[in-house]
Amino acid sequence: MRTIMEPFRIKMTEPIKIITKEERIQKLEEAFHNVFLLDAEDCAIDLLTDSGTGAMSAQQWAALMLGDESYAGSRSWKRFRDTIKTITNIKHVFPTHQGRAAESLLAMTRIKPGDVVPNNSHFDTTRANLEVAGAKALNLLNDEGLDPTLDAPFKGNMDIAKLEACIEEHGVAKIPFCMITVTNNTGGGQPVSMANIRGVKEVLKRHGIPLIIDACRFAENSYFIHEREEGYRGKALLEIAQEIFSYADAATMSLKKDGLANIGGFFVCNDDVWAEDFKNMLILREGFPTYGGLAGRDLEAISVGLMEALDFEYQTYRHATVSYLMNKLEKKGIPVMKPGGGHAVFLDAKAFMPHIPSLAYPGIALVNALYIEGGIRAVELGSVMFGSFDEAGIEQASPLELVRLAFPRRVYTQSHFDYLAEVIEEVWNHREAYAGLKITKQPKVLRHFSCHFQPL
Ligand code: F0G
Repeated sequence: MRTIMEPFRIKMTEPIKIITKEERIQKLEEAFHNVFLLDAEDCAIDLLTDSGTGAMSAQQWAALMLGDESYAGSRSWKRFRDTIKTITNIKHVFPTHQGRAAESLLAMTRIKPGDVVPNNSHFDTTRANLEVAGAKALNLLNDEGLDPTLDAPFKGNMDIAKLEACIEEHGVAKIPFCMITVTNNTGGGQPVSMANIRGVKEVLKRHGIPLIIDACRFAENSYFIHEREEGYRGKALLEIAQEIFSYADAATMSLKKDGLANIGGFFVCNDDVWAEDFKNMLILREGFPTYGGLAGRDLEAISVGLMEALDFEYQTYRHATVSYLMNKLEKKGIPVMKPGGGHAVFLDAKAFMPHIPSLAYPGIALVNALYIEGGIRAVELGSVMFGSFDEAGIEQASPLELVRLAFPRRVYTQSHFDYLAEVIEEVWNHREAYAGLKITKQPKVLRHFSCHFQPL
């Protein structure tokens, strides 16, 4: 059969309320044109994030009931630890309440002011946690990853020459670790090849620098390796994931993505000193090391979810949803980042809204338009999210202006995607009608979550 159908049926539903266009215009004004400030129930299709927004399986709901809520040494903790060890084979396992808690404790325990941390591309919370601790967070993405029109299999790869140059320039003493994010969320959800992870590790090993994998979407990345990299076709996704982690000295993860859970995170590491420092900070900030900010029932649901994310049928379907929307948009000539990502389709807002300069935020204009036209909530990954200021305080544009349509896992069906494609086409056909915006209020860090805009 040509149709790749959802490998599940739906046992429980949630109503979607569809408000009128006039109401949406009003709601957006009340939210200062920042879709993070909208009420979720006013969004017909919520593609703000794929984080914690997925549907759990019957097996996960059943597992919740097995949650052992003991403070220390619970059965659920042992299941969680053993599942993560099966996948990563990394010695010390610590639960955290979500990914950024793992990042924050890592930064607190391992960063000194003046340090430098390379990554293919840092996610915004990773960057913020490292920078708050005094480090400089560097993106060393391969040039391929910066060209939204280029169709290449592994646009999330780190540029190994840039990594060598970075080590040469800053010196080993200033680089406590290097990170690699799989898939590369902020660069279009693009995968990293096994060869690249191996190559990065080889360079780091020569210099004695540890490698930390930001593993949020490790299962989606494993599927891409299976499909696109020579030598992996015959392998199970679990085996591929195990190889990815075999190159890591440590990993952080938001289990709200490929943990198929609504909350959760972890930190794993092989080094005993790192583990001891992390554990002590975990007790202070998150909780005892056998629950780390999570309920026993969460640990159970995550243990099931992690293995479901490595199910080949599930990944086949998930990637098919991305391709389905990509095909529809490409047929209409709508500018998208190529190829489709693992968890999202990224519209190229610079090409979509060429009449809006970067510092009038074409991505935000597009996000606003999608909401007004169809109640779609998307997120800008451009000059607002990655905005920076030079030493003279002048705002710098981001190299890419993307709008991410992130797909919650196992939530929306084919007709939702058909509707979405129609809304995007409608906005595309009237793109000149949308104006840029200016920021009227912003916090110092992570401004995109709460800043206020005003149309120009
Ligand atoms: N690293 C990556 C690559 C992420 O995508 C995220 C979260 C985090 C770390 C932090 O994890 O949210 O559990 O604290 N990304 C979400 C997103 C929020 O929408 O892409 P968290």
